[in-house]
Amino acid sequence: MPPDQMPARPAFRVPAIAPTAVAVPVPPIPACRAWAARYAGEHGAPLDLTQAVPGWPPHPEMLAALARAAGDPAAATYGLLEGETALREVLAEDMRLLYGGDAQADDLRITAGANIGFNLAMAVLAAPGDEVLLPTPWFFNHEMALALRGVRAVPVPCRAADGFLPDPERAAALVGPRTRAIALVTPNNPTGAVMPPELIGRFADLCRERGLWLVLDETYRDFLPDGQDTPHALFRRPDWRDFVVQLYSFSKAYCIPGHRVGAVAGGPVFRGEFIKAVDNIQICPPRPPQFALAWAVPELREWRAGNRARIAARAAAFRRILEAGAPEWRIDAIGAYFAWVRVPDAAPDSAVAAERLAAERGVVSLPGGVFGPGGERHIRLAFANTDEDTIAAVPARLAGLFPRNSAARAERVPAPVAAPGRPFDRSP
Ligand SMILES: Cc1ncc(COP(=O)(O)O)c(C=O)c1O
Repeated sequence: MPPDQMPARPAFRVPAIAPTAVAVPVPPIPACRAWAARYAGEHGAPLDLTQAVPGWPPHPEMLAALARAAGDPAAATYGLLEGETALREVLAEDMRLLYGGDAQADDLRITAGANIGFNLAMAVLAAPGDEVLLPTPWFFNHEMALALRGVRAVPVPCRAADGFLPDPERAAALVGPRTRAIALVTPNNPTGAVMPPELIGRFADLCRERGLWLVLDETYRDFLPDGQDTPHALFRRPDWRDFVVQLYSFSKAYCIPGHRVGAVAGGPVFRGEFIKAVDNIQICPPRPPQFALAWAVPELREWRAGNRARIAARAAAFRRILEAGAPEWRIDAIGAYFAWVRVPDAAPDSAVAAERLAAERGVVSLPGGVFGPGGERHIRLAFANTDEDTIAAVPARLAGLFPRNSAARAERVPAPVAAPGRPFDRSP
């Protein structure tokens, strides 16, 4: 049939995407890094303080162990759903040393990172329409994971006056008939705040009383501040397996975020369901890094302790240098890999501050709005991936960006990245 006589095809329409996905904001780190493309370099090389990554490579023997494991044909086959037994055994021993209590290999499941651990856990703890309480500022991936599943994240606001520690009474008042869990992050991303063991215990009591799961993300547990040697006493409670789900990451402590290994601890009821999500989504976690970690967990204890001291020294240097050189950017909380910094009063909000900081001064940070409601006056600076020389350069970059009485000037700044590329302004 000649082309001009062919019946017109119906216009092609892209099939619909699930509204739960469309409502989720874009991943914030690449979006914020894109601002730095406008930086002309006049203040020196760009400083990327967006991502929580360790600022040094893995231990050389760890690299050798990884190489050996990657060359082992056994590592190329599917592994156990629950993860390598040898790794679960050494991790359980590590947990007994750190927390006390009686954690066993059987309590642990290895996951392809703590983020997938959270997703897999939430697949079995909360159904669409349920609610999970998240203290704010929250770790944006937690809220994104819940939103993708149609689960509502209920913000539990934390205050600067409380050191950004969540308040169990405020959380209790927000528990409703659809609440299934409270998810805490300690040491915290983004504020760095570290919950005292006693406060974690009060949240455990609340969860016990109200029949909720307590999900504890301890990705940064190897970076406790000086003077605190145990994160909490939950694993010493005889009932922890009935309601606690703990997440751990090997990304930070072993400097291997690219290898994707984490762990989830929980009791038999939880594990019985969790394994269904594992089988469908992950099958088994990557095997070569598990082989290497089974060696590294007991062998690199001293190295890990040294890294903890290094990060603590970096936090102290960051505080000292920023307070002396750019006091108008006030550190409201600091710990683990992060400083949670209040932007100067003359800045219209932290989205504008972060964008201008990246585009005009080459310092790339995350604006507080990406961490949920209430973050509009703060930015997160991840200093773990820097050294003291880099930190020393920060105050000069910050200084003078929002001089006092500069509100009129600030208002003339173009609005930050327009939708749909906006990673912030997510209303709960
Ligand atoms: C609180 C928190 N949980 C989980 C993760 C992700 O860890 P993983 O690399 O093990 O998935 C991060 C990484 O930044 C984090 O900050």
